[in-house]
Amino acid sequence: MRKKIVAGNWKMNRKLQEGIELARTVNEKVSGTDVTVILCTPFIHLSEVKKILNRDGLFLGAQNCASEESGAYTGEVSAEMIKSAGASYVIVGHSERRSYYNEDDLTLNKKVKLALKNDLIPIFCCGEVLEERKAKKHLSVVKNQIEKGLFDLPDRDFNRIVIAYEPVWAIGTGVVATSGQAQEMHKIIRDLLVSRYGKEIADDTSILYGGSCKPSNARELFANPDVDGGLIGGASLNADDFMGIVHAF
Ligand code: PGA
Repeated sequence: MRKKIVAGNWKMNRKLQEGIELARTVNEKVSGTDVTVILCTPFIHLSEVKKILNRDGLFLGAQNCASEESGAYTGEVSAEMIKSAGASYVIVGHSERRSYYNEDDLTLNKKVKLALKNDLIPIFCCGEVLEERKAKKHLSVVKNQIEKGLFDLPDRDFNRIVIAYEPVWAIGTGVVATSGQAQEMHKIIRDLLVSRYGKEIADDTSILYGGSCKPSNARELFANPDVDGGLIGGASLNADDFMGIVHAF
């Protein structure tokens, strides 16, 4: 049975002390849910937030990792370091990384492999920009991102991957995908996984939706058979909103 997951992506928000407060509030509110809840914090928050999280089903994640293992890469943070700080998950290939930092498919594939090697679960992001959707290229864009980023993984590695479909036009814009648009893409992604890895692994893979997800729209999105949760940006910065989304399941 695939997991239901709600992951918060704090992005570059909250000073350390504020992040600790936010984590503490979320930690207090998480209980009695079968949803896996993940806080993806800035790097420097990881080890402090780790000390706070003590609820079953509540995990720590990073938002990125280096594409190299270790060494002379000034400013980078390796998957091994992230693991040593207590994280269990790492977001790879968020559209902001793809567009602002020019992360291409090959780089992301290397990051995924290093994450897995260091026992981190990659939350692999994919999604089209508005022009691509308007040109009806969204399906092929997402398919290509997944194939190039993930499809050389053997079965035993792929079954640890979480996928997040995030239409770029919905991220931080307040324009959420309709429930139908989300389900259509999630079903296509799952069918793609069936064709490469078989039904069992595809059925076990959690596919999250991301982009302007809020307590008010989460229930409808999560009601879809192929939407297994959400990757939450803005609404994860407020503990009540974030928990509202967790409880939408
Ligand atoms: P948003 O961001 O919820 O603020 O739209 C989602 C994301 O970028 O992961």
